[in-house]
Amino acid sequence: MNLKVSSFDEYKQVYKQSVEQPEQFWDGIAENFLWRKKWDKTLEWNFKEPNVKWFQGGKLNITENCLDRHLETLGDTPAIIWEPNDPSEDHRILTYRQLFDKVCQFANVLKNNNVKKGDRICIYMPMVPELAIAILACARIGAIHSVVFGGFSAQSIADRIQDADCSLVITCDGAFRGAKDIPLKNVIDDALVTCPSVKKVIVLTRTRTPVAMLKGRDVWWEDEIKKVETQRNTTCEPEEMDAEDMLFILYTSGSTGKPKGVVHTCGGYMVYAGYTFANTFQYEPGEVYFCTADIGWITGHSYIVYGPLSQGATSLMFEGIPTFPNAGRFWDIVAKFKVNILYTAPTAIRSLMSFGDSFVEGKDLSSLKKLGTVGEPINEEAWHWYDEKVGHGKCPIVDTWWQTENGGHMITPIAGITPTKPGYAMLPLPGIQPVLVDEKGEVIEGNGVSGNLCIRFPWPGMIRTTYGDHERCRQAYFATYPDMYFTGDGCLRDEDGYYRITGRVDDVLNVSGHRIGTAEVENAINMHSSVVESAVVGYPHDIKGQGVYAFVVSPNVHGNEDLTRKDIIMTVSRIIGAIAKPDKIQFVSGLPKTRSGKIMRRILRKIAEGETSNLGDTSTLLDPGVVEEIKSGAL
Ligand code: WT7
Repeated sequence: MNLKVSSFDEYKQVYKQSVEQPEQFWDGIAENFLWRKKWDKTLEWNFKEPNVKWFQGGKLNITENCLDRHLETLGDTPAIIWEPNDPSEDHRILTYRQLFDKVCQFANVLKNNNVKKGDRICIYMPMVPELAIAILACARIGAIHSVVFGGFSAQSIADRIQDADCSLVITCDGAFRGAKDIPLKNVIDDALVTCPSVKKVIVLTRTRTPVAMLKGRDVWWEDEIKKVETQRNTTCEPEEMDAEDMLFILYTSGSTGKPKGVVHTCGGYMVYAGYTFANTFQYEPGEVYFCTADIGWITGHSYIVYGPLSQGATSLMFEGIPTFPNAGRFWDIVAKFKVNILYTAPTAIRSLMSFGDSFVEGKDLSSLKKLGTVGEPINEEAWHWYDEKVGHGKCPIVDTWWQTENGGHMITPIAGITPTKPGYAMLPLPGIQPVLVDEKGEVIEGNGVSGNLCIRFPWPGMIRTTYGDHERCRQAYFATYPDMYFTGDGCLRDEDGYYRITGRVDDVLNVSGHRIGTAEVENAINMHSSVVESAVVGYPHDIKGQGVYAFVVSPNVHGNEDLTRKDIIMTVSRIIGAIAKPDKIQFVSGLPKTRSGKIMRRILRKIAEGETSNLGDTSTLLDPGVVEEIKSGAL
């Protein structure tokens, strides 16, 4: 069976089949991949525990799918094109053959450093080709990677390393981001003070920032490569993995507690990332594909590394930021490499729009054929700008809705095949069964309705567990509504049956397409010595989509507001990372609480949104007076 559908009629027919005979459908999709041994059982599942197993008995290695199987036909084809942060530095191209060699080489480095199948490896690196190489090298030998985005703080890294009990860290001396130079190894050194499980750190040279190298623990990437070269260790047999062996852990925020480690497994994830990449983007051989995400997020895992490489695609990787050296950088890259498919985030589009059209007008964007967005709802204005100024009205835009827990696209147009509409993720991919449910958990049938978005049947790329705590996985995703995966998103299904995601219905924020738990930010703010308590909500932000609004109780702040604000922001940066910094901090004498002590966030959300005229029922509040004070001090 073909991974791609080629007409809207075919989509409808394949979709129907995928619902009526899901196992047969997924068998047909999975046959497009290279298996060392075919699976015996397509699917076993219940959403109660949950227990989901795809392709049991199947044996594979995802890197054979991403590398080995392309060598004969695509050995000289670019697998990765890398564009550096500084446009005057040379770009790099790695063909499939070269990438294969480098992955084997680094896999041998890992082995030399005692890494075994099942070990957890933390990767904290900027967007350099070696990041992709490190990921693939882990997968090659069956080590489980946990990539931590380069913007997270030492404390956040330490939390993640401890949770997964990582034995080795791969990092860089530093990272170039726009005009900045960030000392990554320093951050790792701070993190490792509380991480006794880590025995080795491999450090790649990038910025030549001075670093401390601890004897017996820290080694240079380049020295380790030299060792395997003198050992003439140029190949590395792939480890044979069970379909349900863990492939990676990726931490993401929820409505409670610390971030949880989403676990993806080898077989199902490979099939799902490859299938969705091929189908959604309708990838054609030879096309140059540019996803602007960071590999530290799921988008980069699935749509810079595993999805495109499993399909023999050419994946462009960019080290820098959209506004450096100026707001025309993306368009310069598109012109330089004749990019055919561009996949980016609404927040990036809005930010570039705000610099005015002069940076995009006159750029040679004639190579572009297909456009995509991901990570958050896209407003109509940004959609039209993307369509007109970037796509010149001739490129379909796929608004792809999905989550870290999903592994790949779930609800999305198929480029040039199924219809699009601004702000709509449109229709589920074949194999995906979305439903809307009401507060009571009843399925809402028909069109022209809204509700909470759930998925009622498993798909191969779905989360299997949260690392080290299966009960948390059940609680977070499978306990709200029986026998369904709950996404946490609100959703509308219009008169035509097209889906529009309306945003989170839980206490999770989406700031510039990044997921941030309000509880996490509150915990960080509360660490500040002068803070008694706090409540964090989101508010509409022109560029970030959502901004972070913090209501803070800090009794002795009088006269020191500005300084305390700065200190609180610094505290959040230290505890979580710069991405979680509050945009607004309002000092209040108390928070609106019910008699049982629960903070009424509904009221705070309205105040943060500037909608103070109708706050709804406040009679259950312990002290309704506090609302007046908060309203009058709103920022
Ligand atoms: C949340 C998942 C997986 C992509 C990167 C973000 C929101 C994602 C869309 C979209 C509207 C979207 C949802 C979702 N979201 N894509 N096309 N339209 N909202 O992954 O960090 O796991 O966040 O991002 O609210 O639940 P993530």
